[in-house]
Amino acid sequence: MSKIFFSEIVRDLYILQYRDYETKFFEGIWSIPEGVTYNSYILDTDEGLIIFDTWKRSLGEIYVNELKKHFNIKRVRYIVTHHMEPDHSGSTPDLLKANPDATIISNQLSKDMFESFYNMKPNFKIVRDGEIIKIGGEVLRFIHTPWLHWPETMMTYLENRSILITCDVFGSYGVFNGTFLDEIDEENKKIFMREVIKYFSTVIGHYREWVNKNLEKIFREIHEISYILPGHGPAYRGDDVKKIIDIYRMLGRGEKKPRKTVIIYASMYGFLKEMISLLEEFLEKKDLKPVIYGFTDTYHPPISEIITDVYDAENIIIATSTYEDYISPLIRHVVELTIQKTPRDKKILLIISYGWSRKALSLFRELFISHGFKEIEFIEYRTGQHHNIKVDLENKLSKFFNI
Ligand code: FEO
Repeated sequence: MSKIFFSEIVRDLYILQYRDYETKFFEGIWSIPEGVTYNSYILDTDEGLIIFDTWKRSLGEIYVNELKKHFNIKRVRYIVTHHMEPDHSGSTPDLLKANPDATIISNQLSKDMFESFYNMKPNFKIVRDGEIIKIGGEVLRFIHTPWLHWPETMMTYLENRSILITCDVFGSYGVFNGTFLDEIDEENKKIFMREVIKYFSTVIGHYREWVNKNLEKIFREIHEISYILPGHGPAYRGDDVKKIIDIYRMLGRGEKKPRKTVIIYASMYGFLKEMISLLEEFLEKKDLKPVIYGFTDTYHPPISEIITDVYDAENIIIATSTYEDYISPLIRHVVELTIQKTPRDKKILLIISYGWSRKALSLFRELFISHGFKEIEFIEYRTGQHHNIKVDLENKLSKFFNI
């Protein structure tokens, strides 16, 4: 598949998309073998080109060369910068070098960040929240959407076209054919749904409470959206506009999938893995198919997938061997990200095995309690004794999870 995709979306509005298969860890953190796209939008007006966001920092030269294949770069008049994270603003310095007369449109915080990140002082037009600018017959309304997911993030609404350009918001990982979600076949749509949740939980999850606040704010200002054009993944039109907004409302509220249970464990020598098999057998008997992620001496699961599944789970079971006098450092890392990225109104069952030190459980429980988790149950046992705790484990599971 070609890495560059260019298409006219509607009259005089184009997408220039980079399909990135090289980035293994998005933000240097999240494993994305499925790839990701960076979507730059170009509006061709009588008074010049308006660019909405660019590409990742390392792609600046490619971005400018691709843009030149389709447009006279000297016609770029404005570069609307919705978000300063360098997967969207990173190619802008190269664009400005190719056309120093272009003016960035954004807010004061973006200006400060741009000048610091890229050591440049380009022409900059600061727009207020709700401000409208008319350019070449187009009407652009700028809506500030703080903490989705940085403080400077904003969107543009093209008033005379009912098009909302949203950058990270409504974005997804993955690379799909075509511009719009409705061009994707049913099987890939299922993959896409997981990619939306994966993107949301890993990138926006920490700021989920701002989603519905900002959606309310957007809908106070605009009443019709025919198209949503995000900075990653497919765009939306028709029924998909309402569908993706509803999904975001749900994710913002932190809604859980009833009975969804995620088991995360770390087993150093296989004892704890044997206990997980007993647990799995019991849960399946109760018609509860758990999603299981195990760190062992032969495999470590991608943390991005764990966080995706934890986000909308109702129950979490975390099982770890005692390591020195605390838990496995791998579990500690996953738990810290769970606390940082996902809703906290879940039932948590902690299972700790120990050889000689019994300090881990109280420290581990305290970690959850201090971060606002309210429903926590635990089981502690000495390594090798998992068959002897089977009944206790099953009783606690039945009672705690109502199964
Ligand atoms: Fe796609 Fe927050 O950057």
